[in-house]
Amino acid sequence: LVKKKASAYEKQVQPVKKAAVLGAGIMGGGVAYQSASKGTPIMMKDINEAALQLGLKEASKLLGKQVERKKITPAQMAEALGRIRPTLSYGDFADVELTVEAVVENPKVKAAVLAELEDKVAEDAIITSNTSTISITSLAQNLKRPENFCGMHFFNPVHRMPLVEVIRGEKSSEKAIAATVTYAKQMGKTPIVVNDCPGFLVNRVLFPYFGGFIGLVEHGADFRRVDKVMEKFGWPMGPAYLLDVVGLDTAVHANDVMAEGFPDRMKRDGKTVLNVMYESGRLGQKNDTGFYKYE
Ligand code: CAA
Ligand code: NAD
Repeated sequence: LVKKKASAYEKQVQPVKKAAVLGAGIMGGGVAYQSASKGTPIMMKDINEAALQLGLKEASKLLGKQVERKKITPAQMAEALGRIRPTLSYGDFADVELTVEAVVENPKVKAAVLAELEDKVAEDAIITSNTSTISITSLAQNLKRPENFCGMHFFNPVHRMPLVEVIRGEKSSEKAIAATVTYAKQMGKTPIVVNDCPGFLVNRVLFPYFGGFIGLVEHGADFRRVDKVMEKFGWPMGPAYLLDVVGLDTAVHANDVMAEGFPDRMKRDGKTVLNVMYESGRLGQKNDTGFYKYE
């Protein structure tokens, strides 16, 4: 089987001059920061003003650290911040060339947001989704121009994780893949082009790992000790801490998609410990309470 390397796509298209991200949460805020700090202007749209302010605050904090380390000047920091345009509306989307949808991991919400977005951008604009697990082919079903759509899956924290999965849905065009690979490169990331299935490549590996961990906890293991063991094993953080970083809400929703896609391997009867924690309002680091408490 001969496949093109991601770098082959990069040569096919011009750099993206203006991007947009929908959702200013953990991932959307990270994408906005990364795009702006590497020179590409980006609209950051949310439905919640507080989320926009939080996204800007995080970007400002990360840029401030770079100024402290003398990697950039205060003037460069101001320029980079000026490249992020927070907005609650679709005004100024007409000349956006590539968008990254990063709203909650819910197929119905995403389908509605993507259809709405498609009506606001130019006919040749590329639309991507940062979904963790939902099949790109299924998300494309309600789109008028599914050829302009593919996956662009970043990892958390966006500014530190080099990999971006570019996911080819059944109808994604080579142009959409090429533009997305190019944009990932512009952001200083390492894109890989993967085929579509629930969870794509990384989360097909990661979510069964989380499932194994949850099973251990349900059999009485102390999550702190499991985390310590995995750190000694050489991983940067254990599964409990990583789930808190990801967000227990996102993890539950993503796990549901995986269970539907791979019932024989991932489906569980009844509620898991993760479901119970989520339903009791523990969302992880985003609300300071998950497996651990945060100050
Ligand atoms: N969020 C934001 N920033 C973080 C962070 C987090 N959760 N964890 C660490 N950082 C930042 C620190 O603030 C610090 O920032 P600066 O460089 O700007 O000062 C920097 O990372 C370095 O922190 P440390 O010195 O503590 O850690 P490190 O450099 O040794 O490693 C790391 C940091 C690369 C993030 C490492 O902890 C790591 O690899 N963690 C695993 C993360 C991971 O597996 N992510 C995937 C999540 S799953 C996913 O994304 C897919 C999905 O669809 C759900
Ligand atoms: P989050 O909860 O931090 O942020 C979601 C944001 O979307 C919120 O600010 C919310 O106000 C906003 N939103 C909701 N509906 C919207 C709409 N109609 N228009 C615009 N904004 C809207 O979630 P997150 O962790 O940033 O996850 C976002 C996406 O990225 C999900 O699909 C998730 O699976 C994926 N993802 C998450 C991670 C992770 O580790 N958290 C990693 C990779 C991919």
